[in-house]
Amino acid sequence: MGIGTVGSGTFNVLERNQDEIRRRAGRGIEITMVADLDTARAKSVVGDKAQVVGDAREIIANPEIDVVVELIGGYGIAKALVLEAIAAGKHVVTANKALLAVHGTEIFKAAAEKGVMVAYEAAVAGGIPIIKALREGLTANSIQWVAGIINGTTNFILSEMRDKGLDFEVVLKEAQRLGYAEADPTFDIEGVDAAHKATLMSAIAFGIPVQFDKAYVEGITKLTSTDIRYAEQLGYRIKLLGITKRTDKGIELRVHPSLVPAKRLIANVEGAMNAVVVHADAVGTTLYYGKGAGSEPTASAVIADLVDIARMDGSDPAHRVPALAFQSHTLAAAGHELPVLPMTEVVTSYYLRIRVADEAGVLAKITGLLAGAGISIDAVLQREADEVGGEGSTQTDLIILTHDTREGDMNQALAEIQSLPTVLAPITRIRKEELN
Ligand code: NDP
Ligand code: HSE
Repeated sequence: MGIGTVGSGTFNVLERNQDEIRRRAGRGIEITMVADLDTARAKSVVGDKAQVVGDAREIIANPEIDVVVELIGGYGIAKALVLEAIAAGKHVVTANKALLAVHGTEIFKAAAEKGVMVAYEAAVAGGIPIIKALREGLTANSIQWVAGIINGTTNFILSEMRDKGLDFEVVLKEAQRLGYAEADPTFDIEGVDAAHKATLMSAIAFGIPVQFDKAYVEGITKLTSTDIRYAEQLGYRIKLLGITKRTDKGIELRVHPSLVPAKRLIANVEGAMNAVVVHADAVGTTLYYGKGAGSEPTASAVIADLVDIARMDGSDPAHRVPALAFQSHTLAAAGHELPVLPMTEVVTSYYLRIRVADEAGVLAKITGLLAGAGISIDAVLQREADEVGGEGSTQTDLIILTHDTREGDMNQALAEIQSLPTVLAPITRIRKEELN
């Protein structure tokens, strides 16, 4: 259902590698029917190898079909079709993180009641098998945190802006042309897509229900080249990170631009590549890297799910890997014991850029207010006024790096600093993650 960027990649890779896939799966996986609104374009992809229809419900009604692959996207018709496919007793493969992050609880419950599988490896980090790693490879561990570059479009934009000095809009258009961006690209640039993925990883890592509504979401649209440059001078790169972390009080679940030390491997992940770092008690830190978007990289994950289903079809549902890694009856209680924390309770360090009057005593006043809020300073950088505002300028930028502090305390301190008459513009605050 839906044969656009990912759907056509899935068709082509399955055709190309059918023999090896058959040897791995133990049986063939054949695409017999394809539904798309644009039937002419769909026919140009599949030729006479599959029947093309305009109405996806014809697929659901077909008793010969065992597995339905949903590659339409969004929460609208895709949700109805997925639930109808489950009700018809068909297994479902989807790349639709938006759908699962928002309606996952309902969809997984319906699938469990019907005894069918809903597989979604492609929904997080495209071609990287991160769902498999979190759900199966790391199953011995108590996972402590997961942090990742999980949106190819925004990483592509940040890389191209930094390396080639290109404009935001120009790079976004290129990401759309290459098939990386969502149908609504504001989902990419405002951090929503990354938050959908972080929500799914949070559920799998900690055994809690999917709770997209509790995620903190901030995108890259307010980032300036000035901050990217200052961060570089301080030995950091700015990346849009999706982070979920277990703390004594609950679970942090947040997406926002972050300064990351330039020496970390993840800081050097460029273009549409994705990377996810997982820190767990037994194994320590592991890193997963690869193409996070695009036709065939995403198809790779879709087909991996198809192979899993081909192998497990007909098995006792109780013997399958649980959809969210933990047995479903344990999720709700864990959600109460491990609540997703409001952003004010998150503890992290910060980069602050404060435009000030270049006068004696300004720095002391600001550091005094930070100290009063219990916020410890890691480093201070003051730019030359001429460099900031041109020759003869009476303004300058103060850049302050802090140690870890509670976001609520930082909000309070920043409100006080902002109200100083010597602070001349809205303060820029970017969170900083050492990831060590
Ligand atoms: P595309 O827009 O390229 O493809 C979606 C296809 O679905 C289009 O051909 C569209 O037709 C068709 N369609 C829309 N409505 C219907 C309908 N009611 N019945 C049948 N077909 C329909 O999207 P992508 O392939 O990029 O994305 C598909 C899914 O994969 C999304 O959930 C996305 O988030 C996810 N994903 C995408 C990745 C990527 O790199 N692109 C990576 C990982 C996940 P028309 O164009 O005529 O509207
Ligand atoms: N729009 C998404 C991205 C596609 O840019 O990462 C992959 O999920």
